[in-house]
Amino acid sequence: MESIKLNNGNSIPIVGLGVFQTRDGEETVNAVKWALEAGYRHIDTASYYHNEESVGIAIKESGIPREDIFVTTKVWNNAVRENRVQGALERSLARLDMDYVDLFLIHWPVDGFEAAWKTMESLYEQGMIKAIGLSNFHKHHVERIDAIANVAPAADQIESNPYFSNQELIDYLQGRGIAVEAWSPLGGTGGNIMEDALLQSLAEKYGKSPAQIIIRWNMQRGVIVLPKSTHQERIIQNFAVEDFELDEDDVAAISALDCGWRTGPDPDNFNF
Ligand code: A2P
Repeated sequence: MESIKLNNGNSIPIVGLGVFQTRDGEETVNAVKWALEAGYRHIDTASYYHNEESVGIAIKESGIPREDIFVTTKVWNNAVRENRVQGALERSLARLDMDYVDLFLIHWPVDGFEAAWKTMESLYEQGMIKAIGLSNFHKHHVERIDAIANVAPAADQIESNPYFSNQELIDYLQGRGIAVEAWSPLGGTGGNIMEDALLQSLAEKYGKSPAQIIIRWNMQRGVIVLPKSTHQERIIQNFAVEDFELDEDDVAAISALDCGWRTGPDPDNFNF
């Protein structure tokens, strides 16, 4: 799978398996195993997802060397607010049964994120994390990181889907050399974006599914994309996206579906 170079020189595969709302235990173990069998080498979890232990078990049981797999986890809001970032990382690593993660993100821009960032920098320098970044940070939050950072964020994981392209923020981040990752790229659990008439017609045109069209749209925008599924055939399908290319007009047409419709909370207005 194609990779993107992070601003510290490390590579991140452009398609990864997202495991938000994938249940701990058999469901997550199976999803991660099926993904690794299908060729995925990038798994995106978080302490908040409560399935890090299952992610770790699946990786270990796959027999694939740890260093061949890119693993991301995230520090949850309470630990950011109280700057208990180091303990949070240590607990994540213990659950994953790993001695480092490839990318560690501040999950939401809650009060105290600047102090948390300074701790992340020191953990990065100690080698417990191969790269550090942000999630759900708007431009003005990133600017507050700039004011105090010695290490630039490697990535910002944000909401982006055809009905909420978030393109202005993506352009800003990419212009800064900050890799962009899209969460809920397919519109999230219970969404209906894949039923969209344009996506259906493009699926027919390219002989692909609407999910594959959306994943490819992200790849062609240079956006790392983290589709979630608990079904083996969908996990396989979501990775089979390197044998076709969308015409530039079609990329633009998908981007034009944007109607500012978020499936998740606005990082400027959330209460958790
Ligand atoms: P499931 O996990 O039951 O397969 P997102 O990645 O935006 O969070 O979206 C995930 C949602 O899309 C889940 O409900 C998932 O269901 C569904 N999904 C994932 N891949 C596909 C696919 N290839 N075709 C249809 N639905 C999919």
